[in-house]
Amino acid sequence: MKFRAFFGAALLVATVSMPAIADDDPAIGQRQGQFKLFVHNFGALGSMVQGRIDYDADLAATAAQNLYHVSRHDQGRLWPEGTGSNNADGTRARPEIWENLDDFMQKFVDMQDAVEALQPVAGDGLDALRPVFGAVAGTCQACHETYREESS
Ligand code: HEC
Repeated sequence: MKFRAFFGAALLVATVSMPAIADDDPAIGQRQGQFKLFVHNFGALGSMVQGRIDYDADLAATAAQNLYHVSRHDQGRLWPEGTGSNNADGTRARPEIWENLDDFMQKFVDMQDAVEALQPVAGDGLDALRPVFGAVAGTCQACHETYREESS
């Protein structure tokens, strides 16, 4: 009994000193919305590279242009402390992000650089698109491998 009471008190202290539960932090849905726009454009390019739809120069140029603009969005307020998968439901953001914030943000910059190289050539034909698309895909994957949970 004594032990139970002690354990209960310890648990209460632990709960109080934990970071606030951030399930309802709007930043989670907002950053996921950003990634949905990434894939909206990136997916169209991927469909062409993989031959699921015919190459269309206008669509490729527009999707690359859109991806360029959405990838410039400042990340400053999209990753508040306490919104990792250890604190909040409905997010696949791994807690390691906040332990390695510089590396995480560098991976975001790597993606921005690859998108910057894609943007001017995406409309120049499938042969021009293929390698730069592959480079962008590599930067998405590099971050997901380290910082995104497989599933929430
Ligand atoms: C610097 C790291 C990083 C880069 C670069 C990155 N992602 Fe992500 N992505 C994440 C993280 C972390 C999540 C999980 C976010 C969450 O659930 O809060 C995510 C989630 C997503 C999701 C799921 C969104 C949803 O509906 O919940 C998609 C789709 C996605 N990313 C696509 C992409 C594409 C396409 C690229 C490349 C153009 C990309 N990401 C580049 C880190 C990154």
